[in-house]
Amino acid sequence: MEDKNKINALRKKIDDHNYHYYVLDNPIISDYEYDNLLRNLQDLEDKNPELITPDSPTQRVGAKPLDAFDSIDHSIPMLSLENAMDADELTGYYNRTKRGLKTDHNIEFVAEPKLDGIGVELVYENGLFVSGLTRGDGIKGENITQNLKTINAIPLSLRTDKLTPPELLEVRGEVFMEKDKFKIFNDDRSKNDMSIFANPRNAAAGSLRQLDSTITAERPLSIYCYEPGKINGKRFTKHSEFLSALKDWGFPVNREIKLVKNIDEIISYHNNLEKRRHSLPYEIDGTVFKVNGIEEREILGLRSRSPRWAIAGKFKAEQVTSKILDIVASIGRTGAVTPVAKLNPVNVGGVVVTNATLHNQDEIDRKDVRIGDTVLVQRAGDVIPEVVKVIKSKRPHNASKYSLPTACPICSKEVSRPTGESVARCNNLSCPAQIKGRIKHFISKGGLDIEGFGDKLVDQLVDRNLIKTFDDIFRLSFTDLEKLDRMAEKSAQNVIDAINNSKKTTFSKFVYALGIRNVGAHLSKVLEEEFESNILEFQKASIDQLEEINEVGPIVAEAIIRFWSNQININIVNNCFSNGLEFSQKIFQSKNLENLSFVFTGTLKKIKRAEAKNHVELNGGRVSSSVSRNTDYLVAGESSGSKLKKASDLNIKIIDELQFLEMIDR
Ligand code: IVH
Repeated sequence: MEDKNKINALRKKIDDHNYHYYVLDNPIISDYEYDNLLRNLQDLEDKNPELITPDSPTQRVGAKPLDAFDSIDHSIPMLSLENAMDADELTGYYNRTKRGLKTDHNIEFVAEPKLDGIGVELVYENGLFVSGLTRGDGIKGENITQNLKTINAIPLSLRTDKLTPPELLEVRGEVFMEKDKFKIFNDDRSKNDMSIFANPRNAAAGSLRQLDSTITAERPLSIYCYEPGKINGKRFTKHSEFLSALKDWGFPVNREIKLVKNIDEIISYHNNLEKRRHSLPYEIDGTVFKVNGIEEREILGLRSRSPRWAIAGKFKAEQVTSKILDIVASIGRTGAVTPVAKLNPVNVGGVVVTNATLHNQDEIDRKDVRIGDTVLVQRAGDVIPEVVKVIKSKRPHNASKYSLPTACPICSKEVSRPTGESVARCNNLSCPAQIKGRIKHFISKGGLDIEGFGDKLVDQLVDRNLIKTFDDIFRLSFTDLEKLDRMAEKSAQNVIDAINNSKKTTFSKFVYALGIRNVGAHLSKVLEEEFESNILEFQKASIDQLEEINEVGPIVAEAIIRFWSNQININIVNNCFSNGLEFSQKIFQSKNLENLSFVFTGTLKKIKRAEAKNHVELNGGRVSSSVSRNTDYLVAGESSGSKLKKASDLNIKIIDELQFLEMIDR
């Protein structure tokens, strides 16, 4: 095929996949395959730059940064919506609309979620995206064409298979960031010491306001389209018809949109969406009801700032004010000390709230929160309610400042705040507030991995004072366990056996299990190599010695030093050893396969043949391609053939892949 045809076919394919992904919400290829198509197209266009068109999927990024956005007039003003605060106001609106239309019949509305994002307008000429602007003040918007182009969900050219696009088509919609994408995005920023956004809406707004569209391209933005602007060359009689045409042309349309036929259906749509609000992947702040008939819309007409044919149903406030009665420090499962405001009970979005988090001392200082202050409290989703800001004008003169305690309110041991971290912590392994969480981590898969020792068992054992620290686990007896709820004789014995088995472990698993701040599974392995499985050496290491280790920075080093500086922690670790914990012998880069000869056959599942060979050689062994009397091990992968037979004839030791991995300690 000629490159030109290949390019056209690839573009069509990519557009089709976009349509499946964004409009039908039903992708039919993986992201990986999609990226491959895009890469192929890019390669062909690199070879044939004269064939590049502005609507090619490769053209979403690459525009030069702007100095400023141009201001452009909307051809039809972008109005806002009148609000109804509750069911009564929705009913009032419905009745007014009936009077406006001089009818006694029910009126059909299109019910839509009111997305909490940024309103934009997209302009298409003969099916091609030509420009896009912000809502601005409703009359004029900013030209953010380059930024909108980077949003994959916005089609650059419209589909024509079901319906020919009109000469001019202006489409309005809401750009937003999904909640979980927002979270990942913000977490990433905070890890990189960048300022974080307060909510997905601000993140979407900030992303659209970038003068350099390559930055926008990296932000996970989406869009749902919901209204026409100006259209030349096509008339619709119903809004629902317009929405279905949008889908045919390739615009994402919210799947929660429904037809409602009377006031009861309006109210139940509103209530249902309010109930499900937090389980939706994006933020909404209400519902919108729009008269479906275009002729009826024309009869009803406009007010100065909003149409008479639509109304927004607001959800109950999720931000309310209350008074801080006290501030207390709460200790989390990992020892994090969080300041919590005790509030005058207040109803936030249907839930009575008495506690709100203040996050940490920096936040208290930044917001200047004091005991006695009247504050704005917010509840968003399933997250813990938080104090947003102080209403300074309501501050009483006796309002008092607050500082986190320097001793843990639960165990009275020192609370410390490592340099560069915003969170203060209690580092005492035996702090009662942390016991359950720490023990669950200790016995978890990556840690000592005690089979049959579930969270419920931990809860019971801690509640009955049978375990307080890690080492207590090794002192549990059959009779201790047998007494517990839902513990049969057999399972009690199984747990005891599993505990005994877990005593034979490795340095890295044990160190991970200890739950030292910032020391995860990978770092535990690094430390294992460094200290050659010697826990005493690890305990004695100085900060300089630690910082010299590759991958150990000052934060980790400080956390380790802090951990070992607590005598209680040392005692717990020592007690584990005196109760039988031991590290299985691990040989470090020594020649544990010295002089052994290996042959591989069949397919290995977990590691590549070349990698396996490398391991053997690194450990002093040899790999040969055929089985002989000199072969020590045949590693038999899946569908092994003649080598397997020969090895067995020669009485050579045959091991499977898992046994081999054990040998090389993988
Ligand atoms: S219709 C006149 N539909 O809400 C029609 N707007 O307060 C107005 N919004 O600026 C637009 N979801 O940014 C419409 N399903 C929806 C909407 C929606 C969110 C925003 C939009 C508009 C504001 C109006």
